[in-house]
Amino acid sequence: LILVYASFSGHAFSEEVVEGENITRSQFPDGFLFGAATSAYQIEGAYLEDGRGLSNWDVFCSTNGNIADGGNGYIADDAYHHYLEDIEILHSLGVDAYRFSISWTRTLPKGRFGEVNPSGILFYNNIIDNLLLRGIKPFVTIHHFDYPQELEAIYGGWLSPLMQEDFVYFAETCFKNFGDRVKYWTTINEPNTFSEMAYERGVYPPGHCSPPFGNCSAGNSDIEPLIAVHNMMLAHGKAVKVYRERFQAKQGGIIGITANAYMYEPLTDDEIGKAAAERLLAFTVAWVLDPVVFGEYPPEMQRIHGKELPKFTSEEKMVMKDSVDFIGINHYATLYAKDCIYSTCKCDPLDSTCVPGGDRPIRGFASSVGDRNGIPIGEPTGMARFFVVPRGMEGMVDYVKNRYHNKPMFITENGYSSPNNPIKINEIKDDHKRVEYHKAYLSYLSRAMNNGADVRGYFIWSLMDNFEWNLGYKVKFGLYYVDHRTSHRIPQLSSVWYKDFLSNNANAK
Ligand code: NOJ
Repeated sequence: LILVYASFSGHAFSEEVVEGENITRSQFPDGFLFGAATSAYQIEGAYLEDGRGLSNWDVFCSTNGNIADGGNGYIADDAYHHYLEDIEILHSLGVDAYRFSISWTRTLPKGRFGEVNPSGILFYNNIIDNLLLRGIKPFVTIHHFDYPQELEAIYGGWLSPLMQEDFVYFAETCFKNFGDRVKYWTTINEPNTFSEMAYERGVYPPGHCSPPFGNCSAGNSDIEPLIAVHNMMLAHGKAVKVYRERFQAKQGGIIGITANAYMYEPLTDDEIGKAAAERLLAFTVAWVLDPVVFGEYPPEMQRIHGKELPKFTSEEKMVMKDSVDFIGINHYATLYAKDCIYSTCKCDPLDSTCVPGGDRPIRGFASSVGDRNGIPIGEPTGMARFFVVPRGMEGMVDYVKNRYHNKPMFITENGYSSPNNPIKINEIKDDHKRVEYHKAYLSYLSRAMNNGADVRGYFIWSLMDNFEWNLGYKVKFGLYYVDHRTSHRIPQLSSVWYKDFLSNNANAK
């Protein structure tokens, strides 16, 4: 068992706790937001209803083989028709906030080339109003992986700089319609993951990739991920500018961005190993966060990519620099970083945890792997690379704290999926592993905060099982299990635990 030593900001308070066991809500400051998270495409369904337009995901799911179990988001959790029930569930859990996203195609079915869809606006107004009636703060992601297919068809989505204007228009539509009541915004969810999956691995739409990734085509995986992120970064910066100039003072909200943030530890305990871990962090987390804080890509990336890395003009730098009020961190797991400058980094085809392409500049000549001499870095889960390493939460929060001068942070996602696929019947109610996961990760979060990290909130991914993108419905993260025949939400032990934790009674199982 790992020991956690907690101390409260320098006070002579020091306590020894077994990992996760004693974590209580009272260890977090007043006003800290506890919540649960979802995203539109993963839960809403109703894909053809009330004027919604087709999205990149609707089209991608229609091709056989793109989604592991042949699934799609056409019905999903049918949250479009069950949102009131979901809000009751959130209320019964006692969360302070609910993180959800706005479907671009429900509000602007054809992007900026068409009309605003009044039914879409009404749907989100209903969600927001009902959350507020229950005292739950809406924490809104504007864009979470789904955009109008129209924009893909016309100019290739995020590969085109024109997409920036589309996003700004969409964001502005959200500020205008919802900003009187929404006080927490994030612009784009995980630009780093989307770019890797869509333009490097080819497993998210539009499915572009090139060697060393197998089986897909139509891309250049050395360049396209960089271009896609560049357009997302500028889209973010320009939307924040609009928010700050025209809405923020009147509406009084705050705005940030969310990055996917694996922690990386050196595979070898030497300088080479440490440098590889630093590079991987720079090429994943800082890739998104350096531009929004410093107005530039990480020096590590500039050095290795050279001319290949898109540049911000001096005018753009001004837009990008300090373009967040807070940093959103999605953190689940830790991997080892393997140096690929001094060693070869070809993945063993049987090793699903090795990220290929580490021997290319796009990964900073480092590969991430899940084990050292056959011993996994942590317990495996339902996701190939999501090893349970609770100390990684502290490592990641410290990394962001140190690199970005302790900007306010929110943990916008943290969650557990069972390695059993399909999930075992008894796990539907008794997901004690998920409970252990959250307790342990929260302990390390609290430890980082006691050492001064300015973290303002924590969201569990996810409120309920949902459409896990290319992996379909087999990978489940929910506090609630969803029976897809009836759309019933079935509480799991973790939901009971969270409720107890939130009512400050954490040890009641
Ligand atoms: C990241 C994404 O934001 C979310 O959509 C996804 O379901 C979870 N992590 C789990 O992989």
